[in-house]
Amino acid sequence: MSRDVRGRVVLVTGASRGIGKRLALRLAKLGAKVALTARSVDDLTKLVAEVRALGANAESVPGDLTKPEDRERIVADTVSRFGALDVLVNCAGVCSFGEFSTSSEEIVRKVLEINFFAPVELTRVAVPHLTRSFETATDGWKPAIVNVASICGRWGIPSLPEHCASKHAFVGLTESLRCEFERFGIDVLLVLPGLVRSDDLNRHLLRNEGKIHLDFEGAQPSDEVAVAVLRSLRKRRSEAAVGFVSWWVWFGKRMFPRLVRFFMQRKVWTYAKRNK
Ligand SMILES: NC(=O)c1ccc[n+]([C@@H]2O[C@H](COP(=O)([O-])OP(=O)(O)OC[C@H]3O[C@@H](n4cnc5c(N)ncnc54)[C@H](OP(=O)(O)O)[C@@H]3O)[C@@H](O)[C@H]2O)c1
Repeated sequence: MSRDVRGRVVLVTGASRGIGKRLALRLAKLGAKVALTARSVDDLTKLVAEVRALGANAESVPGDLTKPEDRERIVADTVSRFGALDVLVNCAGVCSFGEFSTSSEEIVRKVLEINFFAPVELTRVAVPHLTRSFETATDGWKPAIVNVASICGRWGIPSLPEHCASKHAFVGLTESLRCEFERFGIDVLLVLPGLVRSDDLNRHLLRNEGKIHLDFEGAQPSDEVAVAVLRSLRKRRSEAAVGFVSWWVWFGKRMFPRLVRFFMQRKVWTYAKRNK
């Protein structure tokens, strides 16, 4: 049975810009009630006004997802304002573009904190409410957790070591929880974007000094990822690689892993040769 989010309460993290913002707008157009979280209060306030102008129901529940008290409050406020929590979309994240040799413990801990520990612990707080959503449903409704990871969670891409580590951990967790949460009636879905055009690259990247060529400007629009999240939710698709590059790496890893490694290695050598 396909999933219809109309009238359902969806908590979207990372909603102040990028993929999370596009997703919030699309969910609202489908008639979902959206709880929007991020740290930037002003951006969330503007987005709530935009969503309400569409005739949909939206609330801002700002907070820093790396803080336990904020995670508790975000979920509690969502449930108290809407009376339930039916879907959690873990979308907030950061990236660090640069080599391991010039990285630091501070960077790796920060990336893991936001991309891995924050969604893990937010999920822990949300699960009792999602379980209730399943138990109280009379129409076969299945709640869901959608984890927006990255193709970096399926293949270790050079110049993105911390990002790849955090997303591999996130993907592993997702697969494990998918089996565990089956008995609570909760679907756990995975979305794997490739390179996405950022609204604000300076805020998305902790550092921007990688020594391979990445075409940030020509990357896929964040709205395409939002559409893929909705498709995964509707069709209950457990894993979706979004965009040609992501799909190619995803498929290539299974079918031609040595070829994918050759192309990755070539990116490193090409950059090194050009910048000698
Ligand atoms: N951009 C890409 O190329 C790409 C590729 C593959 C996967 N992804 C993944 O897709 C997701 C969204 O990416 P995006 O491109 O939309 O990124 P983005 O435009 O930089 O947005 C990131 C969002 O995360 C929020 N955030 C960051 N740190 C936070 C914290 N400590 N507490 C609460 N919220 C926090 C930001 O809000 P505030 O700053 O207001 O807190 C913002 O809303 C991320 O998980 C990312 O890893 C992105």
